[in-house]
Amino acid sequence: MKASHTIKLETARLCPVTIGDGIIEQLERHFDFTEYSSMVLITDTTVNRLYGQSVLQRLKATGKKVSLFTLPTGERAKSLSTVERGYQFLLANNIDRKGLICSLGGGVVGDTAGYIAASYLRGIDYIQLPTTLLAQVDSSIGGKVGVNFEGKKNMVGSFYQPQAVIGDVALLQSLPPAEMRNGLAEVIKYGIAMDEGLYRLLDRKQDGEFTTPELADIVLRCCRLKAGIVEADETERTGKRAILNFGHTVGHALEAVTKFRGCRHGEAVAVGIIAVAKISQQLGMLEPSDVQGIKNQLQKFGLPTSCQRVSPDGLINAIRFDKKTTLGQTRWVLLKGIGKGVTNQPVEENVVRKVLMELCR
Ligand SMILES: NC(=O)c1ccc[n+]([C@@H]2O[C@H](COP(=O)([O-])OP(=O)(O)OC[C@H]3O[C@@H](n4cnc5c(N)ncnc54)[C@H](O)[C@@H]3O)[C@@H](O)[C@H]2O)c1
Repeated sequence: MKASHTIKLETARLCPVTIGDGIIEQLERHFDFTEYSSMVLITDTTVNRLYGQSVLQRLKATGKKVSLFTLPTGERAKSLSTVERGYQFLLANNIDRKGLICSLGGGVVGDTAGYIAASYLRGIDYIQLPTTLLAQVDSSIGGKVGVNFEGKKNMVGSFYQPQAVIGDVALLQSLPPAEMRNGLAEVIKYGIAMDEGLYRLLDRKQDGEFTTPELADIVLRCCRLKAGIVEADETERTGKRAILNFGHTVGHALEAVTKFRGCRHGEAVAVGIIAVAKISQQLGMLEPSDVQGIKNQLQKFGLPTSCQRVSPDGLINAIRFDKKTTLGQTRWVLLKGIGKGVTNQPVEENVVRKVLMELCR
């Protein structure tokens, strides 16, 4: 049996998160399919080409009826029209309340398939089989599912926990470098905001490349961090979950002003991380040497630490309209040291503007 580790994520429903190398080949060891009448594998065209058939065969080996629903690759598929097509597919395949959705893919597939599962017949079970680094360390865990609407990200959705998350790091071998960097921005986020040990571990990686066992350890470590936060604040009510937004206030604003075309999510988060580090330094909370260390780490992993052709005022406007802004007040996640993110911090607009003027060249 391939080595794997399981975290028991104790939310309203227990959700085991299993991480390992090659474990997709032993799916039935990590999840009990017996109670389900039939299954639907949901994936995108790219992941289908790489892994669809082998996962389909494994699921069919359980003796159940399995059908395949494929989404186009890319963020545009995360829409209500895809959800509608999903319902039609489930209906046409007679999927009842004992049906199971298996989501195989990155965050786009996971969020969309999860929302179909949350709403079809008022909710049927689903499992997450994340195939990008971002999905393994972040989007597959925590039960946030949903789609984009009217050009706005994640406007429609729900909190709906999967029955299990099974993350096979072997699948990351086929991930293009840009997608790897995208996920690494989130890994770096966990280190800087929550886990100094992880930050130092990433710092020691001179070449920015990982072996598969190293990757498995890092993914597991991030899953533990996310699971701890989700358990403390499953539906984003106590404010604890806000720590996961570290770097995302400026990151989301950058994505909004560039209309999601100018830069990838991970790149936007990287700029957001350095912005927050500099704001924390301005407020006397973080040493200049730590800000430099953060910058070095982001650059080592090929992530940007400044942005071009973006106006600081445009960013400030977008920050004001972020959907996580409550009563017109932006609450920042700042740093009082490496691994020590602090939530719910107000920051004067002139401090934000000064930092953004330094970063937008
Ligand atoms: N639910 C949450 O808590 C949460 C958290 C963070 C992000 N998200 C969402 O996640 C989405 C982004 O997810 P993503 O970065 O995984 O993007 P994605 O799902 O679009 O995947 C990125 C690309 O990688 C390809 N791909 C996937 N697995 C592959 C593999 N193993 N080998 C080769 N190619 C592969 C995909 O086909 C796609 O082209 C966004 O919609 C974002 O809003 C959700």
